[in-house]
Amino acid sequence: MKEIDAVSFIRANTEAQSPPLTPEISLYLATESLPIWRQTEEELGEINVPPPYWAFAWAGGQALARYVLDNPELVAGKTVIDLGSGSGLVAIAAARAGARRVLAFDIDRLAIAAIGLNAAMNGVDVIAAERDVFESSLPDSDVLLVGDLFYERELADRILELLEIASQQGTDVLVGDPRRSYFPVKRFTQVALYEVPVTRELEDMEIKRTAVWRFSVPPASLSFLSAGTVEAA
Ligand SMILES: C[S@@+](CC[C@H](N)C(=O)[O-])C[C@H]1O[C@@H](n2cnc3c(N)ncnc32)[C@H](O)[C@@H]1O
Repeated sequence: MKEIDAVSFIRANTEAQSPPLTPEISLYLATESLPIWRQTEEELGEINVPPPYWAFAWAGGQALARYVLDNPELVAGKTVIDLGSGSGLVAIAAARAGARRVLAFDIDRLAIAAIGLNAAMNGVDVIAAERDVFESSLPDSDVLLVGDLFYERELADRILELLEIASQQGTDVLVGDPRRSYFPVKRFTQVALYEVPVTRELEDMEIKRTAVWRFSVPPASLSFLSAGTVEAA
């Protein structure tokens, strides 16, 4: 794989824009997906590279960022992790809403560079780290934020396991998702609903109805946990 200068690549192939639902946040975003995807393959000297997810503000991320900005008490003064952060939109929203420490994880090296540039453009601190979130356990956090990560079956199944663990440890887990194919709706409670402007090129529609969801620990786990507490007492 060829090394590319991530910062120059991002600046050359994107424009500073505000996602429609979060006009107060600016991000380096692409206007079309295919040219930047082809350009990524060319620069890396590879074919079949994953899409440059970081170059778009996905419907789930937009909804979740809006929710966090409008409900700052959810994150203010807290440690927050944004999983699969992409452009960093959700992480930046959490930082703007007053989070004490914001960690943004993504598996894509270009995303990490984009999050750094985007956080700086918005004048906030976000700690971005290149990381496969399934490789080791996540650091402790008060709030786990997940924007649009249920688009592939295996990824969705594994994310669900992570959310389950975090939630059982007392972490507040919030997800933005437009009910993608593998979104396990029964495990969540809807807390907000948005009509998110998106592009026909990415979503084949202009408005994507997208909810913010809170992960619910299943009743079976709760009775197990309380049984454990009684036994321990
Ligand atoms: C559809 S994008 C969503 C980006 C952002 N959260 C948003 O809503 O705009 C999914 C992101 O998850 C990242 N991702 C996928 N698998 C991952 C993994 N195992 N560990 C960390 N990040 C991952 C991708 O690189 C991509 O940036």
